[in-house]
Amino acid sequence: MRSGLLVLAAADIVRSLPQTVSEKPDNLDRRLMNGLGKTPALGWNSWNQGGCEAATAVVALNTASAFINLGLRDVGYTYINIDDCWSTTSRNSSGYLVPDPNKFPQGIKALTDQIHSMGLKFGLYGDAGTMTCAGHPGSQGYEVQDAKLLASWGVDYWKHDNCYTPCNAGLQQTCTNPAGSSQTWYIKMRDALLSSGRPIFYSLCNWGRDNVWTWGADVGNSWRMSIDNWGNWADVVRIASEAAPIASYSAAYGFNDLDMMIIGNGRLTTAEERTHFGIWAISKSPIIMGTDLTKLTTERLNLIKNRALLAINQDSLGKAATTFRPSGAASPVSGQLYPYWAGPLSDGVVVGLVAPDGAQTLSVNFADVPGLGAGTFAWTELYSGHTGSGISVSANLNAHDMAVFKVVRIASG
Ligand code: GAL
Repeated sequence: MRSGLLVLAAADIVRSLPQTVSEKPDNLDRRLMNGLGKTPALGWNSWNQGGCEAATAVVALNTASAFINLGLRDVGYTYINIDDCWSTTSRNSSGYLVPDPNKFPQGIKALTDQIHSMGLKFGLYGDAGTMTCAGHPGSQGYEVQDAKLLASWGVDYWKHDNCYTPCNAGLQQTCTNPAGSSQTWYIKMRDALLSSGRPIFYSLCNWGRDNVWTWGADVGNSWRMSIDNWGNWADVVRIASEAAPIASYSAAYGFNDLDMMIIGNGRLTTAEERTHFGIWAISKSPIIMGTDLTKLTTERLNLIKNRALLAINQDSLGKAATTFRPSGAASPVSGQLYPYWAGPLSDGVVVGLVAPDGAQTLSVNFADVPGLGAGTFAWTELYSGHTGSGISVSANLNAHDMAVFKVVRIASG
């Protein structure tokens, strides 16, 4: 069993209390001190699969079995997360959240025990306001009690949503004129979780409000930086375009969360699914699957089990890729997918090439890539396994497709 603070390395123990936003974003001493999430979380969440209906013990256990039977646990997928609608619609007379008895007939503790015995971890969802987005009890005013309850159940991961939070005007559910910064209520739950007696991964879900990337690292292990991935290619494009300018805020123990995956929901082409997975992986986003894994085709399964891409995502350096502009290329346009991406790795550089519109051949000189420069480099394309070397690389891409290269220097220029 992990014993929270005791397992921290010396570097992790230094945490500055003042939450100034002017510090360097990747300053490790601002990371949340719970010892979890050194690399982005890998797992599954019920919401994109089936909304309220998928928040059941049966679905969680089927998914856990799929993690094992399909080899997903072997490549690093760990978290089985149940989202909104797992509880009854009111607290009990002692103020405790109550698992819906129809969905969790044995309660939550029995489920977490079973999931732990399968070598996996279990996550739950809640909300910083008076109600969750689907109208179940929120944690406002109950933070300490809820955190202790989660710890007693053996919960490993908590996603904290932002509905029905203090609001000056507008729709209470997703208030656009909030009474205060969401940072205030996210800190409350952080402190409650930190004193709950159990290390619990803290996933902030304020949809990118209040520039969460500037303070999220001191509050949670990951933070949603945009509104939902609603399931279409347009969402992948929007989120990727918003993630690129804030890539530098991700570092070990705290990552931009680009939202849950939609691979296998039937609305993306094969090429689009590759780009979705590729950008999330190189951006160091948590990769939380959001469809019924038991129904994935072999091709999709192979995509999400791509060890080389997962190794980029889980690289110990924890630095996210962002866009770069080769000489002669047009500038990135907000809201559009940019073709050229790169980011540092502990043992090289990752370069992504994306065809945002039609089929296209894209080339890049390594001299133009941040972190590379003059010299000769060996490259491996991580979807096809093709390898080569030289001073440049190119890819023939279908519309909306992506190639991801791991590039390593072999000779100085
Ligand atoms: C949204 C959140 C989604 C999902 C949903 C549940 O606010 O962004 O990821 O959790 O609430 O109601």
